[in-house]
Amino acid sequence: MLDIAVLVSGGGTNLQAVIDAVESGGITNTRITGVISNNKNAYALERAKEHGIKSICVSPKDFPSRAEFNQGFLEAVDALEPDLVVLAGFLVVIPPEMIEKYRNRMINIHPSLIPSFCGTGYYGLKVHEAALSRGVKVVGATVHFVDEGTDTGPIILQKAVEVEQGDTPEVLQRRVMEQAEWKILPRAIDLIANGRVKVEDGKTVILQ
Ligand code: GRF
Repeated sequence: MLDIAVLVSGGGTNLQAVIDAVESGGITNTRITGVISNNKNAYALERAKEHGIKSICVSPKDFPSRAEFNQGFLEAVDALEPDLVVLAGFLVVIPPEMIEKYRNRMINIHPSLIPSFCGTGYYGLKVHEAALSRGVKVVGATVHFVDEGTDTGPIILQKAVEVEQGDTPEVLQRRVMEQAEWKILPRAIDLIANGRVKVEDGKTVILQ
């Protein structure tokens, strides 16, 4: 059984996709041991509560320094004893000690086809604004392991989505969520839960 902790900051539609997939059997051998948000108002926390999943808020605002937040945050994650940490729209910088502790056991969903439109400053609508500004015809989403960089760890899954004439950033964001994010994040968790993802030389191998 893969125990997962999901870290969120906002609406939680990716969390919902994971919850629904665990409940429907789309994700097997997996249990969500808790949801942690830095934002006490994150609707994602409500989604967790509605499904009887432990949910807590650990905010940098509750600590006198970033170092003390980092320590308290890592303690809160460790307390859930996760085999896998899932960043689902989590907007706080992950403490370096946590990246080391959960190397190749922490994944992130990013709303672009990495290495396009990623890295510092590329999050949420900004990603889709940049894609439309560049005039690309295909966008998508990526699930990757988290390393010391921003959106730079080994890629696990990607899924492409067509840009349509007249798309606004909001319309494009929703299509990427519906057609890509909400599919590949659960799929990546199921692959990991069933021992089908290895990392070799900084790249993933998906076992058939
Ligand atoms: C998603 O677009 C995700 O790709 C990005 O942040 C957003 C989170 O949305 N990392 P939600 O909170 O899962 O609805």
